[in-house]
Amino acid sequence: KWDMGHFAKEQIEKIRKQVGNDKVLCALSGGVDSSVVTALLYEAIGDQLIPVFVDNGLLREGEREKVEHVFKNMLQVPLVVIDGQKKFLEALKGVTEPEQKRKIIGHTFIELFEEEAKKHKDVKYLAQGTLYPDVIESVSVKGPSETIKSHHNVGGLPDWMQFELIEPLRELFKDEVRKLGLELGLPREMVYRHPFPGPGLAIRILGEVNEESLQLVRRADTILLEEIKAHGLYEKLWQSFAVLLNVKSVGVMGDKRTYENTVALRIVESSDGMTATFAHIPHDLLELISNRIINEVDGINRVVYDITSKPPGTIEWE
Ligand code: XMP
Repeated sequence: KWDMGHFAKEQIEKIRKQVGNDKVLCALSGGVDSSVVTALLYEAIGDQLIPVFVDNGLLREGEREKVEHVFKNMLQVPLVVIDGQKKFLEALKGVTEPEQKRKIIGHTFIELFEEEAKKHKDVKYLAQGTLYPDVIESVSVKGPSETIKSHHNVGGLPDWMQFELIEPLRELFKDEVRKLGLELGLPREMVYRHPFPGPGLAIRILGEVNEESLQLVRRADTILLEEIKAHGLYEKLWQSFAVLLNVKSVGVMGDKRTYENTVALRIVESSDGMTATFAHIPHDLLELISNRIINEVDGINRVVYDITSKPPGTIEWE
């Protein structure tokens, strides 16, 4: 185990030496890894860092605001925020196939990121939050047979953007990255955040991604997270989220027939995301969450609980 205070000092020295007076670009997603990389790089080289956050419109409620608050207000990092909502939604119109969604989101991200990068011609490095398990998984998942899911990261950049990489977390496991984040002054809430996939809510909507489906899954997700946190379970779980199914079913509300959408709750325990078991959430809590979602979200009249572990299921549905 590393001592993270010591590790941070060492890395900061190393980064300063390597970078000199050059500039470094990084993509901040708001997740633990890229947040820690951004905080570490800013500590090391200050305004030579250009951190870019793309709002793809596929984020959870209040997420962009939280990221802006932590980096702009708390850490004084000169964050570049790109409004991509329209562009992503446009590109996703009519698309339902999971891998196609992932690819479109990846390409659109690169497009916007490239547009921003072009404004900073003197950039020499790209900083990435690659962890030790990422190094392993990219080998095993993309084995000779078939890619299971094309993970959306800042890979596949155009030729002119083949910067030299800075990957200060390459030797660390998640728990070590979290300690490092606290060491660097990131709020506990951010450092202990559940993982959130790059393609965001788009891969938690089976079927077409549009304003309406986003609104439904986003609201259900907020309620689920509120209750999980209120019941002290958040930090015990790997992930806890809602999936909007492309299934409509008949229900009854008051004395009226409804014919609305279904949400599945996906709540899992895991230590690294490679394997996972569905969490044994108390039935009373499931009942409370289900009632709240159905009562508070117009357009959802059924909630089901996913009892599949990984393998054979994956954590995300797409
Ligand atoms: P799966 O669904 O493959 O997910 O069991 C394993 C873990 O990876 C997360 N995940 C992603 N993370 N980009 C990411 O950065 C992605 O495209 C992506 N897809 C899945 C997922 O949330 C889970 O924690």
